[in-house]
Amino acid sequence: MAWKTLDDMDLSGKVVLTRVDINVPMDAGRVTDTTRIDKIKPTVEAIIAKGGKVVLLAHFDRPKGKVVPEMSLSHVVGAVEASLGRKVVFGTDCIGAPAEAAIAAAGPGDVVLLENTRFHPGEEKNAPELAAEMAKLGQVFVNDAFSAAHRAHASTEGLAKLLPAAAGRLMEAELKALDAALGTPLRPVVAVVGGAKVSTKLDLLGNLVTKVDHLVIGGGMANTFLVAQGIEVGKSLAERDMADTAREILVKAKAAGCTIHLPIDVVVAREFKAGAAYDVVAADACPADAMILDAGPMTVAAIVKVFEACKTLIWNGPLGAFEIAPFDAATNAAAKSAAALTKTGSLISVAGGGDTVSALNQAGAAEDFTFISTAGGAFLEWMEGKELPGVAALMG
Ligand code: 3PG
Repeated sequence: MAWKTLDDMDLSGKVVLTRVDINVPMDAGRVTDTTRIDKIKPTVEAIIAKGGKVVLLAHFDRPKGKVVPEMSLSHVVGAVEASLGRKVVFGTDCIGAPAEAAIAAAGPGDVVLLENTRFHPGEEKNAPELAAEMAKLGQVFVNDAFSAAHRAHASTEGLAKLLPAAAGRLMEAELKALDAALGTPLRPVVAVVGGAKVSTKLDLLGNLVTKVDHLVIGGGMANTFLVAQGIEVGKSLAERDMADTAREILVKAKAAGCTIHLPIDVVVAREFKAGAAYDVVAADACPADAMILDAGPMTVAAIVKVFEACKTLIWNGPLGAFEIAPFDAATNAAAKSAAALTKTGSLISVAGGGDTVSALNQAGAAEDFTFISTAGGAFLEWMEGKELPGVAALMG
């Protein structure tokens, strides 16, 4: 790989500006999921072990270049201290005197957390002046925020060009896992792509059909593909105006030797609510007054067969309306089978993006996957085959 890691850097006595993504969900002032904070610990520990002082740079939410008190990173200081088991010194700005004062106040082994980078309009504009102000604070830049690497911002892209730069441990793990899944994977490769709309995942599908051997399409997106083949789907969620596009994807897949798997049978209901009465019917037999809310058991069995025949799996998006039982059954069953195959060593499984992680957690399958990305949008852009500016900047 062309990027440097912490192992390549001399950090002794240096202030290490460390871009992390601790854009965590909050409810009533409390962090409800600390996963992203927990995941930066190996990087923080490695920098301290190498004699560096950790200064965390991060964004929180979307304040759009203004100081929005509710979006202050001061609200996560307690959660960061608890997760890292270290004292956190908070700087009320990510540049200038407040930042310098926080860095000076931090003792050995303390961690500095600077205020939301997005409070400055220059962050999202990737303003060179803002990046230069940040660069003044330290001697080395470490990017551990894969999940923000699709943004060409001052603290993700600009700063990497101004200081000696390296990938943090989480960034390293993400890049290696993603390369193992799509860059240089063990074949055959199967991708599972679910979710509501084809329109939001067009580029992703277009890229995947040229890279994977099997593509399983689930969720509302699958309905659009059924419509594209002249199949009626009743009141199901479907983008009828995307039928031509779906047909183009099917043609492109055929030309590339990628087999597309659509539902064979489906779970239909008249109401979209937990515990609603349902039937299992053939994919082409959805009643006019019903909607498809999940893939059926024959479809799941077919998906499991594909998993068994493959060596690598990449998963984004649920197969059905997984938020409400019983329409989570197909997602749960397929996820459990992927987890079991991973456990026996016959499958490398990588998942990420939006709802995917909650769906796999809900299925109790996430722990046995080879790698679960912390990224939402960045994971999707990577699956689309796009260059991520935050990663590209580390290449030097
Ligand atoms: C995320 O939550 O996916 C990252 O923190 C990026 O956030 P953004 O979509 O606001 O840039």
